[in-house]
Amino acid sequence: MAEKRTIGVLTSGGDAPGMNAAIRAVVRAAIKNGMGVKGVVRGYNGLIHNNFIDLAMRDVSDIIQRGGTMLGTARCKEFSTEEGVLLAAENCRKTGIEGLVVVGGDGSFRGARDLTNLGHINCVGIPGTIDNDIACTEYTIGYNTAMNTAMEMVDKLRDTSQSHDRCSVVEVMGRRAGYIALNAGIAVGASYIAVPERKFDMDEMLGKIQAAHSMGKQHFIIVVAEGVAMDIEGGCETIAKRIEEVTGIETRATVLGHVQRGGNPTVIDRVAATTMGHYAVQLLTQGIGSRVVGQQQGRVVDFDINEALQMKKKMDMSLYTVADDVSF
Ligand code: F6P
Repeated sequence: MAEKRTIGVLTSGGDAPGMNAAIRAVVRAAIKNGMGVKGVVRGYNGLIHNNFIDLAMRDVSDIIQRGGTMLGTARCKEFSTEEGVLLAAENCRKTGIEGLVVVGGDGSFRGARDLTNLGHINCVGIPGTIDNDIACTEYTIGYNTAMNTAMEMVDKLRDTSQSHDRCSVVEVMGRRAGYIALNAGIAVGASYIAVPERKFDMDEMLGKIQAAHSMGKQHFIIVVAEGVAMDIEGGCETIAKRIEEVTGIETRATVLGHVQRGGNPTVIDRVAATTMGHYAVQLLTQGIGSRVVGQQQGRVVDFDINEALQMKKKMDMSLYTVADDVSF
């Protein structure tokens, strides 16, 4: 009797709400396609160190609603060398894994590309990162949940800023991308939003705050993307100090941090993860690898992994203009 075809699934890089929903979809769709599934523990580390677990239908019950990833995730140095990639491919073959679904960001896709090209294991990437910074897709798993978390947190900050007539400077995640900052900023009615896609001008921001203050505005919310804060010595604290010095408005800085990576995924993230996971399995079932799955105009599509990695994402700045037009 021919051996059962088997695929693996791993999550890599920073975790994102909805990764569990993707794992569930991969496992169930693969089993329904007659394949076995191995979960790889802690991303590419698990491939190097032979850390695999069998995943059956019921092993992925009750995870669709949970944040984090049941498989664990990591950034793996050993896998960045050719020896590491070849060892990982060898371990896949020994375990019977013919193809792999990799849920993660660009760094994880580079690993998937190498494992396909050098190791000859078919890999399909699914975009999983709260940053929404992957060029071939309009949407990455975890982004919607992270934006909602940021929005809820800033809503809470607004309560206290308003009570004290203060200015609140809030840093949100996103690495070098400003998607969370711009959208969450609009959703909380921020007075000013700083994103890395637009040159940050401290004087422009101070001038706007001062002008609004002199017209009677008492409290302010300033949303700063991580990608802007990281280029300023002292980050948001520096921005807050400067606002207080120049305008006289009492100002506090808050870095939201990793809270944005957790929590139960929203409906958007659960559905995106499920449809992309399902799609990735259809590709691997047909023996197709070296692809990245993405979403374009709401539809699930796929791209060559090398081409996907070459693409550049460009923020639609018309949304920034909207934010600016409705602030203060
Ligand atoms: O890529 C997701 C992300 O949360 C970024 O927004 C942030 O810059 C980075 O990961 C933080 O990484 P770590 O969890 O390693 O501190």
